[in-house]
Amino acid sequence: MQSGGNSTMHHGQTSDWWKKSTVYQVYPKSFKDTTGSGTGDIRGLTEKLDYLQELGIDIVWLQPVYVSPQNDNGYDVADYCSIDPAYGTMDDFDELSAEVRKRNMHLMLDIVVNHSSTEHKWFKEARKSKDNPYRDYYIWRDPAPGGGVPNNWQSKFGGPAWQYDEATGQYFLTLYDKTQADLNWENPSVREEVVKLMTFWADKGVSGFRLDVINLISKNQDFPDDDGSVPPGDGRRFYTDGPRIHEFLKELNRRVFKPYGLVTVGEMSSTSLESCILYSNPEQEELSMTFNFHHLKVDYPNGQKWELMPYDFEQLKSLFSRWQTGMQAGGGWNALFLNNHDQPRALSRFTDDGQYRVESAKLLAITLHGMQGTPYVFQGEEIGLPNPQWNSIEEMRDIESLNMFRILQKQGKSAKEAFAIIRERSRDNSRTPMPWNDGPGAGFTAGTPWIKLDERYPEINVQNQLDDPDSVFQHYKKLIALRKEMPIFTEGTFVRLDEQHPQVFAYGRLSGDEALLVVSNFSGNPAKYSLPDSMASEWLKPAGASELLAGSTQTAPVLEQEMILPPYGSYMWFIRRQQS
Ligand code: GLC
Repeated sequence: MQSGGNSTMHHGQTSDWWKKSTVYQVYPKSFKDTTGSGTGDIRGLTEKLDYLQELGIDIVWLQPVYVSPQNDNGYDVADYCSIDPAYGTMDDFDELSAEVRKRNMHLMLDIVVNHSSTEHKWFKEARKSKDNPYRDYYIWRDPAPGGGVPNNWQSKFGGPAWQYDEATGQYFLTLYDKTQADLNWENPSVREEVVKLMTFWADKGVSGFRLDVINLISKNQDFPDDDGSVPPGDGRRFYTDGPRIHEFLKELNRRVFKPYGLVTVGEMSSTSLESCILYSNPEQEELSMTFNFHHLKVDYPNGQKWELMPYDFEQLKSLFSRWQTGMQAGGGWNALFLNNHDQPRALSRFTDDGQYRVESAKLLAITLHGMQGTPYVFQGEEIGLPNPQWNSIEEMRDIESLNMFRILQKQGKSAKEAFAIIRERSRDNSRTPMPWNDGPGAGFTAGTPWIKLDERYPEINVQNQLDDPDSVFQHYKKLIALRKEMPIFTEGTFVRLDEQHPQVFAYGRLSGDEALLVVSNFSGNPAKYSLPDSMASEWLKPAGASELLAGSTQTAPVLEQEMILPPYGSYMWFIRRQQS
């Protein structure tokens, strides 16, 4: 079988096992609470491993459970090698790890080393004086000549990226919250600490890491002002995919990832295709794969997250196609995803979460899982969970949302206008508790949940779906299994087949005499779709050489050159090509 033209694909037996895997992302705070505290915990995840195994999951990505003041729900780490009591104990972690292994699954930990919490002992030392040995673990600068911040870089959560420290008269850099101080990777001691903490977890037997905003760790050491000539003009071009990033990643690979045989995925903020090829091409010895977010900005007018607009369907399709084709040509590997804990639910954002909720959820799954890469399923996605129905800002918890609610009003919006934006864009949309059943607390907690439960849990919950052959859950299970059985999912060459169709996204995957065809109608109206002539002649003769692998509706159209797709109709066919 040909390998889809990917000459740099690993030839080793097991080194790229994760290409056929599906990763499940667990936001522990909202997954399962075993104590009645209202906050999910590690033992809750252990309890639900059978569920994940049933789904066919190979890798469980556990989001941060380290000691943290929880200003950014654990992405503000105060101690990298201890478990936050809110989530349990190290014994709970070891038990989880053993139970994961027992099921032949793998555990992936979230590593947050662009910054630490200002509660970390390194930072507490660093701020004591300019000559403290930990001072240089962080990024300090004098005020600008006329006073004020050293440069005009903006924090991702709103406001300036610098915090003034009274005691020592300098500013420290915080690209996220003001309690998340950026670590100084130029300092070899910092890199040594990172190797140490990664080794600690690797020694405990975890199989991999998800590296939080890892492409921001190398800053332009001149710290120039952003003159705004390149949007969004907030300084990011001076620290995104920065000058020494590849060197730093190669060091981590050489010292930790490779010796322990880890699977790694980098979260790449505002990155480029060219950089992601370098990060993930195995010859470069950096990471296994990368997340990028371009396809999740197609509803940001001019890149502005805090302004609303309907999403640009053509752009969504072009971005997927560009990254599929580009990563394939460059020998890189995509982490495929539509949801995570920082994004509103794709179901509500790109499709219909009301009348066509089930069809929509299945359509998104087919469209994503047919592509090349390693798919990620974010908790709740596999049961078609929509955005919750927010009634007021008081129901929200996320630091970014609360900051922006204030900032939008400062910019002149009324509270009502600001809330209308926040409720669409808030990261809390994906952070409401997992509905396990229709009982009290949705089976998530016996107490009061830390954030509201979506009221639709009596209808949308796990229990409802496990035994229903037509459920979204069963649909995901099928797609996850197909990827493991059929090499074409990992190897096939991607070709886009929809010629700017206003409703339909269609693509093929080609491998030898085999093909996959994926056709999805992203609209609430029937859509007419015609397969291009060149494909039709190879694919539709002799009749009967195709098999429907998955569909979003009870009955699928017959595979013909011209088809009428029902609302949110999405289908995946396996085809034996007729080559002359
Ligand atoms: C990443 C995380 C996000 C966090 C940020 C800062 O984007 O996914 O949740 O707020 O990094 O650590």
